[in-house]
Amino acid sequence: VKIIYNDQIMDKNKVQIDIEDRGYQFGDGVYEVIRIYDGQLFTAEEHLTRFFSSAEKIKIVVPFPKEQLLRLIKQLINENKVNNGSIYMQITRGASPRNHVFPSAETKPVLTAYTKVVERPESALENGVEAIVADDIRWLRCDIKSLNLLPNLLAKQQATEKGCYESILHRDGTVTEGSSSNAYIIKDGKVKTHPATNLILNGITRQVIARLCDENQIPFYEEVFTVDELLAADEVFISSTTSEVMPVIRVDGKLFSDGKPGQITRKLQSLFLEEIK
Ligand code: PDD
Repeated sequence: VKIIYNDQIMDKNKVQIDIEDRGYQFGDGVYEVIRIYDGQLFTAEEHLTRFFSSAEKIKIVVPFPKEQLLRLIKQLINENKVNNGSIYMQITRGASPRNHVFPSAETKPVLTAYTKVVERPESALENGVEAIVADDIRWLRCDIKSLNLLPNLLAKQQATEKGCYESILHRDGTVTEGSSSNAYIIKDGKVKTHPATNLILNGITRQVIARLCDENQIPFYEEVFTVDELLAADEVFISSTTSEVMPVIRVDGKLFSDGKPGQITRKLQSLFLEEIK
């Protein structure tokens, strides 16, 4: 199986990562996940743009242009013959003797990417999933797709241990997003999600959903909402590259629309399906 190492496609077992890579020691890097449907990348341009932007926000310069990275990724998908799956990519500030201070300019960033076969989570999409509410204990730059995911992992684990799919996070009662997804409520026909500030990751799926709402006269508001509003919503859903438009049928034990995905969520799912076909 092949992977991308910097600007090359290589055998996975030929790649060596330094134990003093700053990604490994400090989480000093950023990442992206892009979906592959039927051998084709979905919203690749948007993901790559965000990748370059996340890198820039932490002062890492991706050492080659977006077009070249896209070409490499497409080549990797072909070589690995991925039909339905995803590509994970990350860039770190490189390897250098451990020191919090940024290394000297000669230190080269390390970019790696690999493909994975993943099917669509069809039964979860059909039946909906359960979530819990958890404290958002992350930093104040959640707009950066940083490798530092400890608070996200702790929140996800908490959900998993309660038999749930996701933790919906809040800061002082204001819902921000999921541990690895964006979160939405629907009340009286209106879709609401947290504005794209430094407190959330502006999901690419979120941006697709916003456009679909706009094109289909579904009222869509980028407005903050509270945990109380979440629990009083008519419908709840989350979104991400791998979860798509995922209905949430229960939050902290509170059941929505009789435990079945709601009508507007269903509508958004079918609109989303048209996009990925
Ligand atoms: N997670 N918010 C957070 C904190 C995320 O980690 C993600 C994605 C999203 C949704 O973004 P998008 O629609 O662009 O996938 C929102 C990815 C899939 C992951 O970490 O695996």
